[in-house]
Amino acid sequence: MKRIGAAEPKDPVLQEAGALIRRGELVAFPTETVYGLGGNGLNPEAARKIYEAKGRPSDNPLILHVAEEAQIPELVREYPPRARALAQAFWPGPLTMILPKSSRVPRESTGGLDTVALRMPSHEGARAFLKAAALPVAAPSANRSGRPSPTEAAAVWEDMQGRIPLILDGGPCEIGLESTIVDLSVPVPTLLRPGFYGLKALEEVLGLVAVDPALFRELEEGEAPKAPGMKYRHYAPQVPLTLVEGQDAPRAAYIMGQAAAGPRTAALVHQENLSLYREAPQLLLIPLGSRSDSRETARRLFSLLRSLDKLALDQVFCESFPEGELGEAVMNRLSRAAGGRIINI
Ligand code: TXA
Ligand code: MG
Repeated sequence: MKRIGAAEPKDPVLQEAGALIRRGELVAFPTETVYGLGGNGLNPEAARKIYEAKGRPSDNPLILHVAEEAQIPELVREYPPRARALAQAFWPGPLTMILPKSSRVPRESTGGLDTVALRMPSHEGARAFLKAAALPVAAPSANRSGRPSPTEAAAVWEDMQGRIPLILDGGPCEIGLESTIVDLSVPVPTLLRPGFYGLKALEEVLGLVAVDPALFRELEEGEAPKAPGMKYRHYAPQVPLTLVEGQDAPRAAYIMGQAAAGPRTAALVHQENLSLYREAPQLLLIPLGSRSDSRETARRLFSLLRSLDKLALDQVFCESFPEGELGEAVMNRLSRAAGGRIINI
């Protein structure tokens, strides 16, 4: 694990990282969303190593990361005006777009698909690393498959130590949730994964935007989600987590009742609601952050989910909170962490 010094491509640590990528090796690196596990996006062998290090099924496609928009045209069959408009509005930044791929992009990087996911991150260290690599870098989140995405270098270390030659430490990630994914390979642009940018922000640039139904419900038997990653168990702590919707006071009473029966129980609770739980001394209360600051909740969420497994618990409840600018994205990740266990009080 090495700290990024100056966030510029000549930094010796970034030079070393770039050389590893060009040799077909893997490097974990920070972005503004979550840490990525990078490899040469044009090299099938590097893609294979990524799937192996992550323990990820190889039909789950990777996102290609670039330092400059000028790298995009050679990776796609066509770079249409609406894609350029999206890049203009949100790049560099936490947005991924899907376009039909060119023959330069190997199918090993795209999980066998004809399309490719593209992102230009804004994190200064990430940009300097991508410039040093001088290649499109394929990078999924740097967690072992199924675990919450890493938002600090220590979490990457937990999952990847001994599996990859270098982890770049750029401190904690500013956003903490993965990028927004929008599919532009279909007639109507479609939101596949909400992130820092939600539906409204996309509509301002693209006009009509559709939403992948897999975002809001469990898939039917045999039905395929558009983002293949959505079909896998994800973010889930080992301890069962239940998302609880409803009014604050009855919800707190319900959760305290569940804890009173004896199992070791934790509750993820808004700052503002902590006092509602004061009559349950046996309940481990974990503050989620303030209700009025969904950015803070987003930033903390994955490291909280990771820490649950270190706490010897039998069950965890989490207050649901669809509000706030990042409410949509936070709820999307939480409902997947709960594996569909959502109750309404
Ligand atoms: O913020 C992020 O996007 C982070 C950082 C490292 O950039 N990366 C990330 O990658 O979250 P990953 O692999 O954990 O999630 C990518 C998602 C998966 O659900 C995958 O199925 C979907 O994007 N995806 C990738 N390429 C696709 C394609 N061609 N068509 C549909 N979905 C695609
Ligand atoms: Mg991931």
